[in-house]
Amino acid sequence: MSFLEEISRRRTFGIISHPDAGKTTLTEKLLLFGGAIQEAGAVKSNKIKKGATSDFMEIERQRGISVATSVLAFLYRDKKINILDTPGHKDFAEDTFRTLTAVDSVIVVIDVAKGVEEQTEKLVQVCRMRNIPMIVFINKLDREGKDAFDLLDEVEQKLGLTVTPLSFPIGMGYDFKGIYNIWEKNINLFSGENKQTTSDSIQFDDVNNPELEDHIGAEAAATLREELELVYEVYPKFDQEAYAAGTLQPVFFGSALNNFGVRELLDCFVDIAPQPRPKQSEERLVKPDEKNFTGFVFKIHANMDPKHRDRLAFVKIVSGEFKRNTPYLHVGLNKKLKFSSPNAFFAEKKEIVDVSYPGDIVGLHDTGNFKIGDTLTEGEKINFKGIPSFSPEHFRYINNADPMKSKQLNKGIDQLMDEGVAQLFTLELNGRKIIGTVGALQYEVIQYRLEHEYGAKCTYENLNVHKACWVSTEDPKSDEFAEFKRVKQKFLAKDKHGQLVFLADSSFSIQMTQQKYPNVKLHFTSEFEQ
Ligand code: G4P
Repeated sequence: MSFLEEISRRRTFGIISHPDAGKTTLTEKLLLFGGAIQEAGAVKSNKIKKGATSDFMEIERQRGISVATSVLAFLYRDKKINILDTPGHKDFAEDTFRTLTAVDSVIVVIDVAKGVEEQTEKLVQVCRMRNIPMIVFINKLDREGKDAFDLLDEVEQKLGLTVTPLSFPIGMGYDFKGIYNIWEKNINLFSGENKQTTSDSIQFDDVNNPELEDHIGAEAAATLREELELVYEVYPKFDQEAYAAGTLQPVFFGSALNNFGVRELLDCFVDIAPQPRPKQSEERLVKPDEKNFTGFVFKIHANMDPKHRDRLAFVKIVSGEFKRNTPYLHVGLNKKLKFSSPNAFFAEKKEIVDVSYPGDIVGLHDTGNFKIGDTLTEGEKINFKGIPSFSPEHFRYINNADPMKSKQLNKGIDQLMDEGVAQLFTLELNGRKIIGTVGALQYEVIQYRLEHEYGAKCTYENLNVHKACWVSTEDPKSDEFAEFKRVKQKFLAKDKHGQLVFLADSSFSIQMTQQKYPNVKLHFTSEFEQ
């Protein structure tokens, strides 16, 4: 197969949802269709079991298991599908944000009864910022849920999407009979008392065909016809370009648990989802079909096992072929590195691979060379953009608890931040270090790892910060900016990259600051137009 064919058959995507909407179940069903696993329940996903949330070692153990499942690859209709798994636990949301920099499209799973939930809103917002093509899958149709039109409204309003249903439910919950597939123009009916099995699909180019009554009964047929008429009237027609540009989102209905609507989703996904897309670097746009290899690190997984303390850096290949035992330039370090055992991922296994193509993910064993966002090339000095930081939710001072080990502590903090475990802010006023995290759990993880991997001890001190806002101004020499810096001195810090950050103690303080210093811009992510 030629290089271009290899690229065009790859589909690299992520599934995002609020915890419990069904991401794990859907992932597993997709793998079943792809023949990558033989039975349900085989995937040990990144999902962290309920009840284990206070036990971070258990979480780390489960995360350990999930290294291999961070990327799940399988073949379907000749396409090589790479699913990038994202942690369901909200305390690891930052991991998910970063993984979204490596996908070419996403599937958003929504629970039919719960509708759009908080985590989904945040994740979809990130996808919208990057114009990532999205397909929405409304799950758990076997349960009583919200009315389909109400849900579509909610998706449009809360997520800011423009939807086009490509399937539509026939009844719901107790009355759920099946789904009309607008994309393939067929009907899939539930059969069997317990709604576990499905019949073959019935081709139905025209729902006005009176045979519809024979299949679903007069009442359901009438309702379906009415509803479809409304769908065609109200929603825009599917448009490949609009979907690829991230301005139109197809919606499917189904039940992952009952295997319903999943094949339809996968078939449509394979038809429409984009192949690896070009990626913007600070210097230029890099296209997948370029001859020279480029890639970037979007995730680093540290091994918690003291006997194998290496790390695995996950690299998304943007262009060219990645080859084993070939020296590549680590742009940040300006150093050539060679990898003798790059891992590729297939189904649930990882194995050493000789060549990988754009869209693929390789796992590189690392002894501390990599940090999130690093670029690898064949020699060209480019830096890929787009691994933003978001304001953490929790902030604490970190103090050294063993003065003899301050060097170890600093090294440990540095490396853990490179891995993206948390964010570090250094106060302008006195150089004190503040650790910001998405969830309280990370503090335990950091403390444990500093002690066990670096021999350093730390304590924390609470700090009242509501949000970290990245600061920019068009005129750094203005009196207004000088005054802002003087008045807010106590609240100003630098992030790891030396960017100025305002640690606001309340949303009121953000508002007041914005009013008082209109030329000082406050941003809620570290990536913004200067
Ligand atoms: P997540 O990864 O998004 O967190 O969700 P997950 O797939 O683990 O699903 C959450 C719960 O919802 C699971 O039940 C799962 O069985 C159930 N579920 C998923 N899809 C459907 C569906 O289509 N219909 C119905 N009725 N339920 C569905 P659980 O009891 O929390 O876990 P488990 O013990 O079944 O694993």
